[in-house]
Amino acid sequence: MKIFIDTAKIGEIKEAISWGIIDGITTNPSLIREAAEEEKKNGKETDLYSYIEEICRTAGKERPVSLEVISQEADMMVKEAKFLYHKFNPIANNVVIKIPINTRTEEKGADYEGLVAINKLEKEGIPTNVTLVMTPEQALLAAKAGATYVSPFAGRIDDDIRKNLGIKFNKNDYFDFELIQEIFKTRLKEQLKKQAEEKISDLYHDSKIRFLRDGGNDDGITSGVDCVSKIVNIFRKHGMKTKIIAASVRNARQMRELAQTGCDICTAPMSVIREMLRHHKTEEGVKRFYSDAVHAGYDELFKSL
Ligand code: G3P
Repeated sequence: MKIFIDTAKIGEIKEAISWGIIDGITTNPSLIREAAEEEKKNGKETDLYSYIEEICRTAGKERPVSLEVISQEADMMVKEAKFLYHKFNPIANNVVIKIPINTRTEEKGADYEGLVAINKLEKEGIPTNVTLVMTPEQALLAAKAGATYVSPFAGRIDDDIRKNLGIKFNKNDYFDFELIQEIFKTRLKEQLKKQAEEKISDLYHDSKIRFLRDGGNDDGITSGVDCVSKIVNIFRKHGMKTKIIAASVRNARQMRELAQTGCDICTAPMSVIREMLRHHKTEEGVKRFYSDAVHAGYDELFKSL
């Protein structure tokens, strides 16, 4: 499995690359904004053009860099994509264009503009990374349109399920969907016992029972990890070539579960990559080995270094 870093901060990209574990970079307008604001705070004002150039140069030849379009109509998305690709790809031959799966909003737009843009760009040899994917159905259509990558947003799917269930959480909290399932299963059993005398058909259509059976899931999706796992299953069953980038990763345990799904890539922010490295027993072990090494005379051994 490949690991991408989900950031536009050049310092973070450089640092994570120096650790030897980064295979690519994903950005989006929010991450670019965050990085630009940090630069400004540090008194380093650069224009967006030079900044993106530097991201691509820092990533280097082997690491794809996803850059996102901003329009909602296919024609404009294609124009923006070509601009980004032709300006920045020559730097290190690594640009991938992020296109939302569906750019329709309540206010305006049509459902299919993203698909049209993906298809046109891929036919012209410009690789796309289809973003804001929240369901396996969307991922399937992105793959059919020819996408090189598809990015399901695991963390935001969890956010939505937790919000619907009224569960309070902080952005980086692990979402324990197994516990949720147990709670719902137990309540469902109790409810079925209470209504034991009712006809099967009435039970089947009872909204309370259906709610408990669904376990608060989103149309059959129980978590972000579950969504990614279902996409992996569909793509592998049908031999689809589109690579799956599990995105919107919020913590190390979620990253582990995403890796277990068999997805091709996980893109994670620096904070999650750091969290993956930590364990209190590792820290304790380092301290103990060091103190034992001193007692054993290692500092004498290494004196000449
Ligand atoms: O790669 C997508 C990612 O940047 C979104 O993450 O944490 O804002 O949902 P998040």
